[in-house]
Amino acid sequence: MSLRRLAIWPTLPLNTYFRKPADQTPFPLNQEGCRIFSLARQAIWNASKSMGLQENDVILTPAYHHGSEVEALLQAGLKIKYYDINENLEPDPEELESLITEEVKAFYLIHYLGFPQNATFWKTWCEKHQLIFIEDAAQAFLAHFQGQPLGSFGQMGIFCLYKTYGIPDGGAVICTSPPSLPQVPAKLGWWKVFKRHFNWVAAHRGELGAIHLWVSPIIRWWKVKRYKPHAEFNLDDPNTPPTKLTLSLLPKLLSEETFEIRRKNYQYLLDQISEWVPMPFRKLTEGACPFAFPVQMDNPTAFLEKLRKKGVMGLLFWINPHPSLPVESFPQSKKFREKMLALPVHQELNQSELDQIIHAVKTSI
Ligand SMILES: Cc1ncc(COP(=O)(O)O)c(C=O)c1O
Repeated sequence: MSLRRLAIWPTLPLNTYFRKPADQTPFPLNQEGCRIFSLARQAIWNASKSMGLQENDVILTPAYHHGSEVEALLQAGLKIKYYDINENLEPDPEELESLITEEVKAFYLIHYLGFPQNATFWKTWCEKHQLIFIEDAAQAFLAHFQGQPLGSFGQMGIFCLYKTYGIPDGGAVICTSPPSLPQVPAKLGWWKVFKRHFNWVAAHRGELGAIHLWVSPIIRWWKVKRYKPHAEFNLDDPNTPPTKLTLSLLPKLLSEETFEIRRKNYQYLLDQISEWVPMPFRKLTEGACPFAFPVQMDNPTAFLEKLRKKGVMGLLFWINPHPSLPVESFPQSKKFREKMLALPVHQELNQSELDQIIHAVKTSI
């Protein structure tokens, strides 16, 4: 049996080592104050400190979040006040205003799946309320709003470089008061590089994809057995630098085409399977650089299992919120968590792989 295996994470082409470094470096990597850590959560922790946020300062944070960013803020000594998002994944200014007290010092905004929030509005809103504006563009590297890069509107912008390119790690931050660089020696990162290469081969060679398909239930069983709730949110050592391979491979992968290809792939999928896409993502808005292709299902787990058998590894991302969230108090966030899953849209996919995704979705409903 031959089945190409397509996952949402960008793969690492084998020829990367022979490429020339990019001529142009995108925001925020072209800024002197940009700092790169191993993970974005470590960048958040370090920047919260360097920006002068004090112990017990309160930060308005979305109930719809990954969890690791919340953990980083808590570990930095901050207090969290959650807000819900509306059906367009936007915060509601009235709800936010009702939450503001003297202790509230910052507002945390997430640009979901690479789609821009109205950053200009929120910048002005934060100025009016004298709040530090933190823009989480972890899923939105290369995206922009009204021609300006996401992450450049606030006093702090956060990015996950490895979500856009097949590198082992890399969480970047740009902020008005940059933290110091990690001083410990960097790891090489060969194991993650090997996995990203393996995924590239499995996406192109059906034989390898099929082997992986048979092996993956065993790997999953092993992971479930060892599963520790919320371990995925761990900050680890906040002073961890990116791996050596991240820093050497990233310049060879950066390309102005990434933005265009991700958008083209997204539009191609949208033209064929838009009826299952949640409303806020049914139009490819200007400036969006899609991280993944979202689909909404009443029974996402069964749907994902059917997709998996067709080689498409979707992800029910963010199913577990941070344990500090009172889930039931934020119904809209809960709905997105339980029903929205993500499919691949990255720049290494070719036409026939996109067709494989479309076919898998249409035959699994
Ligand atoms: C919105 C958001 N912010 C922050 C993070 C933290 O990124 P990292 O896993 O690199 O620490 C994530 C991770 O998925 C995320 O989705």
